[in-house]
Formats: sequence, structure tokens, C-alpha cells
Amino acid sequence: MADRPTLSAADAALLREQHYNATVNSVVDVHSDLRILRIDPDSGMPGFEPGQYTVLGLGHWEEAIDGSEHELARPRDAEKLVRRAYSFSCPMLDDAGDLLPPSETPFAEFYIALVQRSDIHPPSLTPRLFQLSAGDRLFMGDKVTGHYTLEPVAPGDNVVLAATGTGEAPHTGMVAQLLAGGHTGRVAVVTCVRHRRDLAYAKAFGELESRYDGFRYLMLTTREPENVDPSAVGYVGKRYLQDYFDSGDFEREAGFPLEPERTHVFLCGNPSMIGAPHRTRAGDDRYPTPRGMVEVLENRGFRIDERDRPGNLHFEKYW
Ligand SMILES: Cc1cc2nc3c(=O)[nH]c(=O)nc-3n(C[C@H](O)[C@H](O)[C@H](O)COP(=O)(O)OP(=O)(O)OC[C@H]3O[C@@H](n4cnc5c(N)ncnc54)[C@H](O)[C@@H]3O)c2cc1C
Ligand SMILES: NC(=O)c1ccc[n+]([C@@H]2O[C@H](COP(=O)([O-])OP(=O)(O)OC[C@H]3O[C@@H](n4cnc5c(N)ncnc54)[C@H](OP(=O)(O)O)[C@@H]3O)[C@@H](O)[C@H]2O)c1
Repeated sequence: MADRPTLSAADAALLREQHYNATVNSVVDVHSDLRILRIDPDSGMPGFEPGQYTVLGLGHWEEAIDGSEHELARPRDAEKLVRRAYSFSCPMLDDAGDLLPPSETPFAEFYIALVQRSDIHPPSLTPRLFQLSAGDRLFMGDKVTGHYTLEPVAPGDNVVLAATGTGEAPHTGMVAQLLAGGHTGRVAVVTCVRHRRDLAYAKAFGELESRYDGFRYLMLTTREPENVDPSAVGYVGKRYLQDYFDSGDFEREAGFPLEPERTHVFLCGNPSMIGAPHRTRAGDDRYPTPRGMVEVLENRGFRIDERDRPGNLHFEKYW
């Protein structure tokens, strides 16, 4: 890796002026590696459907947090932005504790995990995003995109929103929209995280669960004592979403059956949890090993939603 290219403070200020179009409204630090970023775009809130995403960006010239193996810019990239996709998230409740539909949220909310290091290539943006505080400037795309939305869901359908980690972000807005719209089918969120503290929205989801009979909030952890220490109180072992659905535990705890004819399942986050089939040279679709949720759910009669073949299984891979 090359040494960090140095820009003068004046050059950096000029580049910020030229590229940045949004201001950090506030930051909620969930813990050192997980934060909620609320942003005010200069041009006002863009319209978005829950589940859609936009891009955030910061200059290669910006400082990254200490200890991260962030990518150092090549000299020719020193004046460019590093941009990444982020799903719109949603606080779900306003300051008074009332349900807040996504369309009425006054800022753009994003739910972001710090990637400190990666086997594939050094992370570029999150070590810089984790330096931001209220009042700082950044780039936010004005294009909102994505098909991971509630569009195919009919009013009486059951909706299951399953995620790993920050893959929960799009599900916040989807839940707020469904509940605000008086959705009559059942709605269940189930999120798998390493530790309980990685569930930034658990309190808000819990509040909604207590108010809406048709809504369930379920979570799985994989690295708490009850997951890894057989002598721990309440030991359950490490369960992935695949195990939870395959065993019937999801249906027991959600309180409704997984009926493909009236249920849509949404999967978001870690691509190995999703386990989308890949096409072989011979043109066959093969499931990856270890198995992901697509294999588990297709065995239960669900079918991937495709452009020319509508289905009831929808997914968004984060990498
Ligand atoms: C459509 C879409 C929406 C996304 N929405 C979000 C979001 O709402 N919140 C969010 O935190 N990320 C989201 N991401 C991932 C995001 O775009 C970045 O990849 C991520 O923030 C890391 O950026 P980076 O530059 O630091 O590292 P990168 O160079 O982009 O990634 C390095 C490695 O980090 C790992 N990684 C990337 N993202 C995550 C993650 N979210 N959780 C765990 N490990 C990860 C992968 O192994 C990846 O190869 C989304 C990605 C896509 C494609
Ligand atoms: N969350 C933290 O406390 C923490 C701390 C330090 C650094 N980080 C960094 O933050 C980034 C995000 O981490 P994250 O925990 O949000 O996301 P993540 O690594 O995708 O993990 C989220 C959840 O998905 C589970 N999972 C992993 N592989 C799976 C598979 N094949 N099928 C089903 N479930 C699977 C994980 O279990 P496992 O326990 O098996 O991984 C975990 O419970 C990573 O780069 C990480 O290094 C996070």
C-alpha cells in the first residue's frame, strides 16, 4: 500500500465544498462498531420506498478511525470520493413515542456497522464514516434505487423480514409502513446478530410488538454465553436463521405457519445467510454450501422473485 497522499487543508476544504451535499444531523453510537447516522441532505429529503437504498460518500482524503485497515488512496484517487450503498433505515417512533411512518421521517437515517478489516480488500468507507459527528459534511446520492420493497405484498399477506446484522435496516421502514397502513396480515421481524448489543432497534421493535397484536419481533444471537458455553444458563447453542426456520422454531415463536401461498419472506444482509443459487456453466442453478435461507425456504415451497417470474422470496445482499 502506498503512503497516504497528503492534501493541504485548503485543498481538502475546496474538495469538500465541491463534492459534499449533506450534513450529519446526529449520530447514535450503539457501540464502538455500530452506529445510526442521521443526515440532512441540502436539497431536502428524497422520496424513497422502505427497502430502497442510496449511496453515501466521503473523500479519500478524510481521516479514518485509528486501528482500522482502511484502504489508502492511490495518488490518482486522492481527490476522489469513496462511495458505498446504504439502505434507508427508520427510527419507527417519534420523540413522543408515536409510530413514525418512513415518509414523515424528517432526516435520512442509516444503520451502519464498522468493518475494521476484511479478507477480501481493506474497507474504505466505514472507517471514515465512524469519524463523523453532528454538523460534519458528506456526500449523499440523490438517486434512490432498489427493488427490495413491499410492492409485491398484498394487504392480507403475512410478511417475514429476516436479516443478519445491519441487514435489519430496510426492515425498520417496512415495519413502520405496514403498521401505519393498517396491514391485516401477520408481520414478523427476525434478526440474527453476534451479540444482543448489536440490536439497535430492539427497544423500538419491542414497543411496537406490545402495541400491535399482529407484529412479532424475534432475535437470535450467535456469540453470547448461551450460544457458546454449554454450562451457561439457558444454553441453546449457536443457531443461524437457516436452523431456526428449518426446525419449525420460527413458526412456533412467531405464532403463524409459513404458508407460501399467503406469505412473503424478505432476506437481507450476509450473502452466505441468503445463499442465493448460482448458475453453473451447464445452466443449472446450484445452491451454495453451507446452505443458506433460499435453499431452506425453496424446500418449503417458496420461490425467488424474479423480474419475469414473480415469487414470494426476496433478498438484498450487502456484499
Ligand atoms: C444494496 C446495499 C445496501 C447496503 N446497506 C447497508 C446498510 O444499511 N448498512 C451497512 O452497514 N452496510 C450496508 N451495505 C454495505 C455497504 O455498502 C459497505 O459495503 C459497508 O458499509 C462496508 O464499507 P467499507 O468501504 O468500509 O468496506 P467494503 O470494502 O465495502 O467491504 C469490505 C467487506 O466488509 C464486509 N461487509 C460489508 N458490509 C457489511 C455489513 N453491513 N455487515 C457486515 N460485514 C460487512 C464484507 O466482507 C465486505 O467484503 C449495503 C450494501 C448494498 C449492496
Ligand atoms: N458485531 C460486533 O460486535 C463486531 C465487533 C467487531 C467487529 N465487527 C465487524 O463489523 C462487521 C459487521 O459484523 P456483523 O456482526 O454486523 O455482521 P456479520 O458478520 O454478517 O454477522 C451477523 C450475524 O450473521 C451470522 N452469520 C454469519 N455467517 C452466517 C451464515 N452463513 N448463515 C447465517 N448466519 C450467519 C453471524 O454469526 P457468527 O457469530 O457465526 O459470525 C452473526 O450472528 C464485520 O466486518 C465485523 O468484523 C463487528
